[in-house]
Amino acid sequence: MRLDGRRALLTGASRGIGAAIAAALAGAGARVAVNAAEAQAEETRALAATLPGAVAVPLDLGSTGSGARLAHLAEQALGGPTDILVLCAAIQVEEEWHAAEAADMDLQWSINLREALTLTQAIVPGMAERRWGRVLGVSSVQALRPHPRMMVYAALKAALANALRNLAKQVAAQGVTANLISPGAIDTPRNAATLADPAMRARVLGRIPAGRLGTAEDCAGAALFLCSDAAAYVTGADIPVDGGMAL
Ligand SMILES: NC(=O)c1ccc[n+]([C@@H]2O[C@H](COP(=O)([O-])OP(=O)(O)OC[C@H]3O[C@@H](n4cnc5c(N)ncnc54)[C@H](OP(=O)(O)O)[C@@H]3O)[C@@H](O)[C@H]2O)c1
Repeated sequence: MRLDGRRALLTGASRGIGAAIAAALAGAGARVAVNAAEAQAEETRALAATLPGAVAVPLDLGSTGSGARLAHLAEQALGGPTDILVLCAAIQVEEEWHAAEAADMDLQWSINLREALTLTQAIVPGMAERRWGRVLGVSSVQALRPHPRMMVYAALKAALANALRNLAKQVAAQGVTANLISPGAIDTPRNAATLADPAMRARVLGRIPAGRLGTAEDCAGAALFLCSDAAAYVTGADIPVDGGMAL
C-alpha cells in the first residue's frame, strides 16, 4: 500500500480523523496537502510540519467557490495535480429538527457537501485524464442511523455517500475510484466534551458491539487501503469503521 510519488489533498485534516489519515498517507510516501479553515492556519501548519513532505493549505470551505480555490492552492503547494482527494471537512450543528436555523443548514451544506463536490469537479477530470485517481469521502454511521439532534448533518452525510457512488460509476473506466469510510463514535477533539460526561460515555459505549470508542487511527487503515493500489478494483464502497455500531 505504498503511495510514493502520489499527491494527496485532505480537507478538514487539522486534527482528529483527517490528521490521522494525513499521517497514514504521508507515512506511505504520499506528498500531502493538509487543509482546514484559515482560523486554524497555525494548527494546520504545525501538523504539516510533523509529516514528511507535507504542506498546509488553509482555506475556509464555508463560502461559494472555495472548493475550486482550494484545488488550485493545493496544486501550487504540491507542485502538481492532486492524485488522491480525501473529503473530511465537516461541521455538526446540534439542534432539534423543528428549530434548525436556515443559516446553520446553509453552513453545513457548504462545508459538508457543496464545496466537497466543487472540489471533485475541479480535481477528478485531471485524475481521469491521467488514468489514476482516488476520491475518499468521510461519511458517518449517521448516514444510516441519524442522530435526532443532527438531522441536517446526517442527511448531508447520506448525500455525500450517494454522490460519491454516482461519481464512482462515471469515472471507473478511467482508473479513478470513489469510496467512503463511515466512522462510528470516534474519540476525537470534536467529541471530547460530550464523552467527558460519564453517563453519556456509558450510553454511547452501550451501542458499540466492540465495547470501546474508535480512535482516529482506527479510521486511517481503511482510508489508506482505499487510497492505494491494493484497492484498484474497489469502487463505490463504504467501509464502516464503527466497531459494529451500525449493525
Ligand atoms: N468523530 C466522530 O465520532 C465522527 C464520526 C463519524 C464521522 N465523523 C466525520 O469524520 C470527519 C472528521 O471528524 P473529526 O471528529 O475528526 O472532526 P473535527 O475534529 O470536528 O474536525 C473536522 C475537520 O473539519 C475542519 N473544518 C471545519 N470547518 C471547516 C471549514 N469551514 N473549512 C475547512 N475545514 C473545516 C476542521 O478544521 P478547523 O476547524 O481546524 O478549520 C477539522 O480539521 C468529519 O467529516 C466528521 O463528520 C466523525
